[in-house]
Amino acid sequence: MRFYSPLLFCLAAVMSSTAVFSYSHMWTKLVLTHHWPITFCSMEHCHPNISYWTLHGLWPDQGINCNKSWHFNSSQIKDLLPDMEKSWPDLLNPSSAEFWKYEWQKHGTCAAKADSLNSQHKYFSKALELYHKLDLSSVLRKFDIIPSEKYYTFSQIEGVIEQFYGIKPKIQCVHPSKNAEAQILGQIEICFDADFNLLDCEKRLTMDAISEGGWDHDADINRASGFMVCDHDMPVFYPPLP
Ligand SMILES: *[C@@H]1O[C@H](CO)[C@@H](O)[C@H](O)[C@H]1NC(C)=O
Ligand SMILES: *[C@@H]1O[C@H](CO)[C@@H](O)[C@H](O)[C@H]1NC(C)=O
Ligand SMILES: *[C@@H]1O[C@H](CO)[C@@H](O)[C@H](O)[C@H]1NC(C)=O
Repeated sequence: MRFYSPLLFCLAAVMSSTAVFSYSHMWTKLVLTHHWPITFCSMEHCHPNISYWTLHGLWPDQGINCNKSWHFNSSQIKDLLPDMEKSWPDLLNPSSAEFWKYEWQKHGTCAAKADSLNSQHKYFSKALELYHKLDLSSVLRKFDIIPSEKYYTFSQIEGVIEQFYGIKPKIQCVHPSKNAEAQILGQIEICFDADFNLLDCEKRLTMDAISEGGWDHDADINRASGFMVCDHDMPVFYPPLP
């Protein structure tokens, strides 16, 4: 829960008052967000048929909706579509491009401020490249973190990721009803710097924390949809396919 401490709420208030200013700044960090389809579908009422971590998005730490006139155009990523459908599926509506359009408009147009990501093809292909390089599903499996009816401790899961990649991830869970005995693993974020080197997601409370104002909005949305930073002391349920 440390992410939502009162101190951070104060910071968030300061941050939002400077948001207009900070949004014009270049981002310095990218968050590659994976979600677990089975958990996502338990919240959103879809029918999961895949049991690997899929892409949710590639989010720069500064800005949302940076260029509303730069419309998503799937013919510019035609060659990527087979991989997009497999690795970045719209779990709610598998045959639609709505999810990619949403992610492009909200985050891609901001990521595109960097030359390395200044086209739809560069943005989506880089996200796919990072996703495949990380290969999170295989890494977890290799270290015996497998979807299962038995629970894990939070530090078992975090420990595997930290040791393998050498950085701190941000891991989010769904907290079900009161008195539940476990939280449900839902989302794993891995962070990169502007040169695509791995980076700790939660850094010291310095300028980094302040500059994260850009995606506080996502924290809000995630909270609204039920994802929160996992509780370090509560058992974790990593649900298998029903
Ligand atoms: C999952 O279901 C969707 C839609 O019903 C289908 O398009 C997709 O190919 C399926 N995926 C797998 C891995 O079976
Ligand atoms: C926004 O996108 C449009 C279409 O790609 C482009 O012509 C324009 O220069 C962009 N504006 C900014 C501020 O980047
Ligand atoms: C989408 O991109 C294709 C290929 O670059 C281009 O030919 C087409 O005009 C674009 N469509 C729109 C609506 O901009």
